[in-house]
Amino acid sequence: MNRSGMILGATILCLATAASVSADEVTYRDHVQPLFDAKCAACHGASSPYIGDFDEDPDRYAAMNLGPRMDSYADMITFVVYPDTGALVRRLDDGRVHPEGKAGNMYQDLGEDEEERQRNLAIFKAWVGGGEAWNPARWREMSKEQLDRIEVAY
Ligand code: HEC
Repeated sequence: MNRSGMILGATILCLATAASVSADEVTYRDHVQPLFDAKCAACHGASSPYIGDFDEDPDRYAAMNLGPRMDSYADMITFVVYPDTGALVRRLDDGRVHPEGKAGNMYQDLGEDEEERQRNLAIFKAWVGGGEAWNPARWREMSKEQLDRIEVAY
């Protein structure tokens, strides 16, 4: 393949990859879990306390680099839907929807460089439902219509 052919091929591959991150197709099992295992499990995996235990002594756990455990579908969605509505969005957003206008404190963990972080952010966004479903609001600030946009397919 010549050089322009390779560039064309790479472009098509990029478009295909971008297109593959649509809310309809992104599932916990196929996309989010492998990403979680690679980027989040060290601090949110089996050696971490469940949120109820974490909340009893958050500073001690944080000092040990342990966040609340979320290594299953059921645990993970409590940080998206209820009771910790919007927490995943607030922690992973790159600053575009974050209420403080800056990246969430776990955005940096999404990748080694900006390209990888954006690619992985797109997967989390699509999983939550894409577009307006990527909402940092807490439970009491969310309307029923906003909650309805959340997808989180298993
Ligand atoms: C180096 C350790 C570390 C990594 C890696 C990490 N986190 Fe965290 N995370 C923490 C700690 C510690 C806390 C609790 C302290 C805080 O709130 O910042 C936390 C808090 C959170 C919360 C908020 C939980 C709550 O109580 O509302 C979410 C959501 C979260 N992390 C998601 C993620 C995701 C998703 C990833 C992977 C992309 C990730 N984190 C990577 C350490 C980590």
